[in-house]
Amino acid sequence: MSKVWDKYPQVSKELESVKNIIKENIKTSEKYFQDSVIPLVDNGGKMLRAAFLLLSAKFGKYDKKKMHNLAAIIEILHLATLIHDDIIDNSKLRRGCESIQSKYGKEYAVYAGDILFCQCFSMLSQDDYTMDNMRSISKAVKKICMGEIKQNYFRYTRKVDLKKYIRIVSGKTAALFVLSFSIGAKEAECDENTVKLLGRIGYNIGMAFQVVDDLLDYDGETKKLGKSAQSDLKQGYYTLPIILALQEDKSGELSNILDNSNFNEDEVKSIVDLVKKYNGLEKARKIAERYTQRAFNGIEQLQDCESKDILKQIVKKLINRCY
Ligand code: IPE
Ligand code: IPE
Ligand code: MG
Ligand code: MG
Repeated sequence: MSKVWDKYPQVSKELESVKNIIKENIKTSEKYFQDSVIPLVDNGGKMLRAAFLLLSAKFGKYDKKKMHNLAAIIEILHLATLIHDDIIDNSKLRRGCESIQSKYGKEYAVYAGDILFCQCFSMLSQDDYTMDNMRSISKAVKKICMGEIKQNYFRYTRKVDLKKYIRIVSGKTAALFVLSFSIGAKEAECDENTVKLLGRIGYNIGMAFQVVDDLLDYDGETKKLGKSAQSDLKQGYYTLPIILALQEDKSGELSNILDNSNFNEDEVKSIVDLVKKYNGLEKARKIAERYTQRAFNGIEQLQDCESKDILKQIVKKLINRCY
């Protein structure tokens, strides 16, 4: 189990059960499919979305079986988005193993992701979840795809500014965090204010999470991350550190290099140095901290219970993570 949850044996135990549900539902008579996806499940991932769903549901009437199933659905949905994301980003590594698109080809990865998306909706239809949640899940999938489309649209262009970046991240990442925080709580019959508050907390955690992910792409280590570092830039993604550095680049030295696409190794190195010189990393971290503070303020308003304490500790851990 991912080291994020080491200190919380109850959460770890429940996530192990969620993982078993995921594996059970990925099993098919097609051994090839199973063999391609199971390593990604076995090699973990942080299981943040599943855990946030379970922790949020504990603010209401907690039906363990139903919530574990729902958490498994959300993690499968997340996995489907990662498999497709790796195709677009041409990523070779995922969760410490060779990505599906690299090992089996992009064509296969498209279908594998599609099967997992369908599996989510098939599992949803087997249990008696609210229509409202079905709608929320469909809407979130749409937002994730729109976020990814928008990001792709701005590839290799300097037109992506802070406002556009926030919109991209709200869709591609925060939407799934909002969903994880709110659907379990809704199924657990939490009152409307609590569901809204949890959704807001999820949004802020999701935004901070992606900003830190983008920072780790600059200064993280491939081995710890389980995915390739220094890859966004090479793929033409100008994320928050660059956007903020460009604001201080009065001489135009950074923007000039960015105007040549397909950077060679030396250019990549120069860009990273300039992003650092113009305080891009520092300023992006401040923004991640701001979102984290907003998440904390929200968590403070929740009723006192064990889930609340765990949320506070995890949010602190996430901003300082190196994986
Ligand atoms: C990766 O999410 C995609 C982003 C939103 C950055 P995670 O970092 O939660 O991926 P896993 O599940 O732990 O592999
Ligand atoms: C998150 O963006 C992708 C999704 C939300 C699917 P990234 O492209 O930064 O995620 P990683 O770095 O590949 O995990
Ligand atoms: Mg990616
Ligand atoms: Mg990334």
